Amino acid sequence: MRRVTLTQYLIEQQREHQRIPVNLRLQIEVVARAVKAISVNVGKGAIAGVLGEAGTDNVQGEAQKQLDVVANEILLLSNEWGGHLAAMASEEMPLPYAIPNRYPKGEYLLLFDPLDGSSNIDVNISVGTIFSVLRCPEGAEADERAFLQPGTQQVAAGYALYGPQTLLVLTVGDGVVGFTLDREFGTWVLTNPDMRIPEDTREYAINASNARFWDPAIRRYIGELVAGKEGPRGKDFNMRWVASMVADVHRLLTRGGIFMYPRDKRDPSKPGRLRLMYEANPMSMIVEQAGGAASTGYQRILDVQPEQLHQRIPVVLGSRNEVERVAQYYAEA
Ligand code: AHG
Ligand code: MN
Ligand code: MN
Ligand code: MN
Repeated sequence: MRRVTLTQYLIEQQREHQRIPVNLRLQIEVVARAVKAISVNVGKGAIAGVLGEAGTDNVQGEAQKQLDVVANEILLLSNEWGGHLAAMASEEMPLPYAIPNRYPKGEYLLLFDPLDGSSNIDVNISVGTIFSVLRCPEGAEADERAFLQPGTQQVAAGYALYGPQTLLVLTVGDGVVGFTLDREFGTWVLTNPDMRIPEDTREYAINASNARFWDPAIRRYIGELVAGKEGPRGKDFNMRWVASMVADVHRLLTRGGIFMYPRDKRDPSKPGRLRLMYEANPMSMIVEQAGGAASTGYQRILDVQPEQLHQRIPVVLGSRNEVERVAQYYAEA
């Protein structure tokens, strides 16, 4: 079997398919190098002293874990000197990070959730990194406003999953591909050349402890899944919830499923748990590119015009027919 590496895949995307310009290819390579370094730290855990709390809060009001901070630093330091970026934005930083003047600036904006699934770090359950690449509008300052583009404008999106294997899943708008990190060689090997989400599924993911706060449409939908064979759907459904979005989404990219973190009434200032720019948009681009769908319940996520860098949003994504059913229940509610 011919071993295709990330570098080869990207060069082919650039040369043969004219999918990506050379600068975007090089930018993705930089991110892929950074996530290798994060993977090493995640893998060392207590040996490297990276577990536990950092003792600080982020702009989201969450207590930061040491690995949230370490992963954020790795991404900043690996990317700032590359010359392809105008600025970066992160779940862990209140404001966009301008490229220091000592380095050349480029045309892209990089956004990331450096460490997704923080509650799983200290219990050795899979965590990940999510990233999104936008183009900086021509002539614009690379400030917060430059980042406020709908998800349809993303030129690339991906995630790394630090599980039993370290994986990199990527889209440049030409389907979804997955690479496995060969730890001995330090290379990304193409292991999933065409990731597709089946249209139908019998598996769903939701944090059911929030059931009392859900919208009527979600109560109706989940109620029908739980009712199984005896209910209106006439079949049994299984439930899985890792609580690392990256791992939950990777499962549905592998064998189908629907993932939901819907709007709930816990805190009226937060219309959802997940962040539009660092989680919902990149994952929605990947899911759509794999033939699935991604909705807030009442709108396609990629069409949402962002108003704030750190804005939160309801997320329903995965197997197309199930996501469309949820949207229909919202329309009928
Ligand atoms: P993060 O660790 O980046 O703050 O994100 C965690 C998110 C997401 O990964 C996951 O799906 C969700 O939070 C889990 O939330 P619950 O703890 O409410 O289940
Ligand atoms: Mn967080
Ligand atoms: Mn996250
Ligand atoms: Mn995070």
